[in-house]
Amino acid sequence: MGVKTFLENKLKEVFIKLGYNESNATLSFSDREKVDFQCNGVFALAKEKKQKPMDIANNIVKNLTTLSDICEITTASPAFINFELKNNYLSEIANKLLLDDCVGIKKIEHPQKIVFDYGGANIAKPLHVGHLRSAIIGESLKRLNILLGNTTIADVHLGDWGLQMGLIIAQLMDDYNLGFYFSENVPKFEITEEILDIIYPKASNRKKTDEEFYNRASDITLWLQQKKFGYYEIWQEIRKVSIGMIKRNYRDLGTTFDLWNGESSVNDIVPEVIDIFKDKKLLYKSEGAWIVDVADDNTNEPMPPAIIQKSNGAQMYTITDISTIYQRENKFKPDKMIYITDNRQTLHFKQVIKCVRLANIVRDEVEIEHITFGTVNGKDGKPFKTRDGGTFKLGDLIDLATNKALDKLKESNKIDIPCRELAKKIGISALIFGDLANVISKDYIFDLDKFLTFEGKTGPYLQYIGVRIKSILNKANLTNSKIIVDSAQISKIILAILKLNYSYEVAYKENSLHGVCLSLFDLASAFSTFYNDVKILTESDEVKKQSYLSLCKLVLNALTLGCGILGIDIPEKM
Ligand code: ARG
Repeated sequence: MGVKTFLENKLKEVFIKLGYNESNATLSFSDREKVDFQCNGVFALAKEKKQKPMDIANNIVKNLTTLSDICEITTASPAFINFELKNNYLSEIANKLLLDDCVGIKKIEHPQKIVFDYGGANIAKPLHVGHLRSAIIGESLKRLNILLGNTTIADVHLGDWGLQMGLIIAQLMDDYNLGFYFSENVPKFEITEEILDIIYPKASNRKKTDEEFYNRASDITLWLQQKKFGYYEIWQEIRKVSIGMIKRNYRDLGTTFDLWNGESSVNDIVPEVIDIFKDKKLLYKSEGAWIVDVADDNTNEPMPPAIIQKSNGAQMYTITDISTIYQRENKFKPDKMIYITDNRQTLHFKQVIKCVRLANIVRDEVEIEHITFGTVNGKDGKPFKTRDGGTFKLGDLIDLATNKALDKLKESNKIDIPCRELAKKIGISALIFGDLANVISKDYIFDLDKFLTFEGKTGPYLQYIGVRIKSILNKANLTNSKIIVDSAQISKIILAILKLNYSYEVAYKENSLHGVCLSLFDLASAFSTFYNDVKILTESDEVKKQSYLSLCKLVLNALTLGCGILGIDIPEKM
């Protein structure tokens, strides 16, 4: 149990004893001088009881004497109850944290099995800035879930089966000789990343004006879904080349998946799923297409019908997602399925989830949650674009961050031979922290200069502090691991770790890691204040020195663990 919960429980006992509404017995962390936790629930109580707030506060404090060994409890006007932990208690906590591999992080009581669907890259199209968010957010939420004890299955769910595939194949066939895929006597034409790079934008623009091309691409999409010879083989080749490219991007970001499935992976079960809808009389024909009516009579929310199958029989985005849910339910029997996409997909997932519930495709108790994120904007407040107005490719963005980090390293002469590998680690940490430090549902402004400063709320700052600590520990000989909390600076550090640990619980509830980012920053800056004030390595009192070194180790453990959840790697040097 965390310290905050422990104190809250004690507070609750007193509230119950005094006949006060216990829901007001909550504490929050406080940054004020000599206040570690604060209860501000007395005001609500005073209103309810029609008593003077300060009288109630004093009465509560009088009854909290059992805590006098571990904290100082005082009231402050108008009616706050303040808790300050005593140094001996903080020392005890610190030494427990030091011995724990999880640095005191509390596990979930009833662990769940959760399928995570994020990434969502489309094959044959380069990943772009939007995919950055899905990858970073999805990966960190998955890691957080693992840390807290859940079992996770992460699926990249590639976009590999829709009209875009027909468009790409049609354009490739127009521009190159793909005869090899249809007959044995033609030499093989190598489909490369470079070719794919130019084909999709070309096809996508052409479909807007060229009706014949659009119709041909639609036919090819259908033939592909029927696995017609030649088309299916071209598609397999495109998929193979493209996945190489996609994996590279994800690897750079530290994003990993257990499953490399895609929309195509459910092609063969779609008819079975459609039959479920037919049997339950949920499917209607409308203007040639098969649809499910998903409007909810109880709400006024507009909900257009979900289109399940096109008039030509081709499968649509909705049915692939429904079928994927069906497949995941049967294969993994998960407790929960979590989707992470940008907020433009809200309607799509509402329709999918409604269809799934109508047709009882998963057990009622399975939660299906759609987490949405906002847009990455430029400094002008509009979606972040390249100088000529194009969409930023993810690979280019990573290069940009890496190059900037390299310049900074050179500038500050922080390292003798600036190395690209290190710069990449720093660049990626800038991108990750710059993203995750925002509430995920909100848009944010992409400002690489800001993300890359070495002193401020940034990923590189966390790395910098981590590296400093590593260098201290490398130079010293830590023999006796015992932390003595005997100064305000040290107690601030221990409290920052407690706050960080609590931030994981909040992040888990809110599905957003912004609080973890801020708590990591607070911990790093608390350590920095301490580090600037004391001489660790030259401390002559050996007991003190060992305590400092143990504290360094504890902070490094907490930072490494927290940064690891975000996907930030602390280098050896910087
Ligand atoms: N491929 C889609 C896109 O880029 C995102 C996929 C999201 N996940 C899902 N299960 N539909 O728009």
